[in-house]
Amino acid sequence: MLLYALHADITTLSVSAIVNAAKPSLLGGGGVDGAIHRAAGPQLLAECRTLNACPTGEARLTAGYQLPAQHVIHTVGPIWHGGRHNEAALLAACYRNSLLLAQAHNLSSIAFPAISTGVYGYPQDMAARVAIRSVRDTLEACPAIQEVIFCCFSATDLALYESLL
Ligand code: APR
Repeated sequence: MLLYALHADITTLSVSAIVNAAKPSLLGGGGVDGAIHRAAGPQLLAECRTLNACPTGEARLTAGYQLPAQHVIHTVGPIWHGGRHNEAALLAACYRNSLLLAQAHNLSSIAFPAISTGVYGYPQDMAARVAIRSVRDTLEACPAIQEVIFCCFSATDLALYESLL
């Protein structure tokens, strides 16, 4: 089992699934969501329309279309409201439900962005701790998954993940 952080654009990774930090409608947005939809092409949005949205903390699987990744797992992180609105439990659920969905589809490798830490405002350090804890706790129930990548979009995020891992 490989679990590591990487400084990369998640749309370039050749893994079984990349995770998208989506909004509940699943109809695209800015940040990593916009980058994934641009790289995958319009068929991704067409498939997302058939899913009829996704509640915060849950996850949905689509194909990867023109991405090097075979699939996209769309999950909706919590908006940061100061930390007393169940944000940590909801963020942990994003990582857990994404991994369980990958396991259910027998996927062997998965890459996560730093969910909720952009537009949604979750402090990076607290989010990284939740992410790593949730992934470590869930992997025991995921024998198919051989490789988990924390895909960091900045050198600062990479240093943070490497220190925590
Ligand atoms: N590859 C990897 N990481 C990326 C990329 C990329 N190409 N682009 C952005 N990121 C990083 C950001 O630097 C940040 O650390 O993804 C993290 C999450 O940021 P956002 O994309 O803003 O996601 P989030 O905070 O969860 O907000 C979700 O933003 O675009 C909308 O539709 C989306 O409404 C939803 C909201």
